[in-house]
Amino acid sequence: MAAPLCGGSGRAVRPLAERAILRGMPAPDDTPIPDRRPSGPPVLPGDDRRSIAVAAERLRGGGLVVFPTETVYGLGANALDARAVARVFAAKERPAFDPLIVHLADASAVALYAEAEDADDPRVARLAARFWPGPLTLVLRKRDVIPGIVTAGLPTVGLRVPDHPVARALIRAAGVPVAAPSANRFGHLSPTRAAHVVAGLGSRVDLVLDGGPCRVGVESTVILLAAGRAALLRPGGLAVEAIEAEIGRLEVLDDGAPGTAELAPGRTGAHYAPHVPLELADPRDPESARAFAVRPGERVGLLAASAAGRAAAEAAGGPFAATEVLDPDGDPVGAAARLFDALHALEAADLSRIVAEPVPEAGLGRAVMDRLRRAASDSRGVSR
Ligand code: TXA
Ligand code: MG
Repeated sequence: MAAPLCGGSGRAVRPLAERAILRGMPAPDDTPIPDRRPSGPPVLPGDDRRSIAVAAERLRGGGLVVFPTETVYGLGANALDARAVARVFAAKERPAFDPLIVHLADASAVALYAEAEDADDPRVARLAARFWPGPLTLVLRKRDVIPGIVTAGLPTVGLRVPDHPVARALIRAAGVPVAAPSANRFGHLSPTRAAHVVAGLGSRVDLVLDGGPCRVGVESTVILLAAGRAALLRPGGLAVEAIEAEIGRLEVLDDGAPGTAELAPGRTGAHYAPHVPLELADPRDPESARAFAVRPGERVGLLAASAAGRAAAEAAGGPFAATEVLDPDGDPVGAAARLFDALHALEAADLSRIVAEPVPEAGLGRAVMDRLRRAASDSRGVSR
């Protein structure tokens, strides 16, 4: 399987490239390659061809490679290697019932991993042509080649072609599909920067490719298209309205409804929770405005949807120990892009609690509110 990376034998090239990149200097051939730095994993620049070659080889060898996507950073393993995938679950402390998304270099690979009936569904071709590469995951009935651990025993597999040059170069160079959840520990915030990954997972991973901040900032929209159905499993970085314009109305599943847990096992609040209690409150609504009042000794953080929201919150209460504004103009695309970054910053600000202003639920606002609601319910201990 392991094809040469850049001429000659892959084995001869890998150590040289790895040494050069890891240490920034030439080293004698017999120098052992450090698997991990004591302080954390090697972080390589994602836009360097040699980094991609090193990371691809690590993936093929069963290693865990963190890579940037346009949504959030992914914790990748060879999706065809059940042992490597098991390490992903262990590194994240993720429950075994929650399936992973398989990342592909392009849409032509869908036929390799999804059953023909679903792969040939004209809606799949339509969505792939319109939105891939991009923040859309299609859940289709899987072929046997995908090990059961990837899909948590489900008969379906989530497939996505990410829109990030580093992610696609990596998948191509590895020559295997890449199973990758968000690169955070289970129950923590998703990472939108390499530094978030290093702080959260440290040496549990073998390598991190740094691609800078993620452009979209919330995870992909997940839809079920298996066996003729069309259901929204998770709102995300692609607006539901855009998908519906292509293939018609999506079923919306309720969290508590029968069957939802089996179809969408990942919908627990714990995925999106900061480790500080978070409350949603509208500063313009007199009923909820008291959430903005700061009691003596309290350190309250404000997550405002816009500059106007910040002003309203400051009029309703404060002073706030830390403030993050998702988007000055309240644009939902900007809000999605800033969401996890802002929550990471508030989480690090030693706060007693966070008050978050709701955003309008249109376009990507739906994904933002989904994450905020789950964070809020989780921090009250409701849905963990
Ligand atoms: O943007 C994203 O989707 C990021 C990047 C790295 O691609 N990945 C991501 O993965 O958010 P993760 O594992 O954190 O979330 C994947 C979600 C989970 O809620 C999981 O339950 C759902 O997708 N999922 C995956 N395969 C599924 C399947 N076969 N059936 C139902 N839900 C599935
Ligand atoms: Mg996740």
